[in-house]
Amino acid sequence: MLSEKINKVLNNQIKIEAESSQAYLAMACWADTCGYEGAAQFLFEHSDEERQHMLKLIHFVNTRGGNVEIFELSKPKGNFENMKELFEALLEHEVMVSENINNLVAVTFEEKDFATHNFLQWYVSEQIEEEALARSILDKMALIGETENGLYLIDNELKALTTGATPSGLAQ
Ligand SMILES: [Fe+2]
Ligand SMILES: [Fe+2]
Repeated sequence: MLSEKINKVLNNQIKIEAESSQAYLAMACWADTCGYEGAAQFLFEHSDEERQHMLKLIHFVNTRGGNVEIFELSKPKGNFENMKELFEALLEHEVMVSENINNLVAVTFEEKDFATHNFLQWYVSEQIEEEALARSILDKMALIGETENGLYLIDNELKALTTGATPSGLAQ
């Protein structure tokens, strides 16, 4: 059984993961419109992953006898100056998510909810990876430079990071 407090903070995290999915969906659309195929594919996939993070939380709350509440989501930023600005925004977003996960873990200690604490370890590791990935993309951008050729190379690098699977809802 989940305490009221844990139920509340997990619901908040469900909302954050849903908003992450929306944020990357908006970024994917921008990249697609600009003709950055690799970046668009990478971001569409990332958006799907965030939805999976949300669903994983929803199933956990339901399994533990909690109550899931689906909230209204805020409109994400859909316009960017360039790829660098987009990936800086992505990193900033992931850092915010990591902080939230850390706070969540702290609440599980307060509430002595070690089952939820254990469950959240997956998210702790995932955040380390996602922050590192965003930083490595920005590092590559700085290294390659933002010339037209540079952007083409970056786009190919991003394509190489994708699974190549068709994002849900997209016909290939
Ligand atoms: Fe996530
Ligand atoms: Fe993420």
